[in-house]
Amino acid sequence: MAQAKKKLPQAMRPSGRVGRVFGWVMARLNRDAYRWTVAQARAANPKSFLEIGFGTGHLLKTAVKSLKLERASGVDPSELMVETARKRMKRLAKKTALDIRMGDDTALPEGPFDVIAALHSFQFWSDPEAALRRARERLAPDGRLILVLRVHGRRTPKWIPNPLSRTGNEIAETCTALQRAGFSVVGMQGISKASQGIVARISG
Ligand SMILES: C[S@@+](CC[C@H](N)C(=O)[O-])C[C@H]1O[C@@H](n2cnc3c(N)ncnc32)[C@H](O)[C@@H]1O
Repeated sequence: MAQAKKKLPQAMRPSGRVGRVFGWVMARLNRDAYRWTVAQARAANPKSFLEIGFGTGHLLKTAVKSLKLERASGVDPSELMVETARKRMKRLAKKTALDIRMGDDTALPEGPFDVIAALHSFQFWSDPEAALRRARERLAPDGRLILVLRVHGRRTPKWIPNPLSRTGNEIAETCTALQRAGFSVVGMQGISKASQGIVARISG
């Protein structure tokens, strides 16, 4: 007998009516993180930008408008979020090449990108080191990788797939994983109690 597919938590796969509300709340709660990310990205004078796990598309839209991007790409595995972000960004397509697609950290579009960002999606990457290496391959030589971690500390829910998020020491573990994947950490900032920003570039 076919087994019923287990529904993933809304944070990991927003869907349906609840997912719409979740998206709205998430976009409000993450405003400081969006601002911080755009400010960090500006230092790389980016023309191209990839977001891994773009949710409602608020950050991508802000980045396109305030950084005057030529190319903006994003992957997200939620059908609802892809539809929401595409609608939000439709008007920007006249001036910026947009590629807003279904996907996840295991299926990134071809680079190079001047900035690759992931806000509160790192916790859902089940093989974070492989994903970081993938991101490194797609980053321009002087580009920046910007991670905003959802900090769980010792209270990480069991269903979170990223093993580093479950260590109880996710910030230090992520920095070590970044180094192993060929990055140097060039900036760190606590954005809120639950959000930690990390900026990295290709080492060497
Ligand atoms: C908490 S939301 C954050 C969304 C957005 N970055 C923001 O800050 O508004 C997490 C997003 O990550 C997406 N996601 C889940 N698993 C993912 C994966 N393996 N790779 C990339 N994105 C993923 C979800 O669909 C969801 O849209």
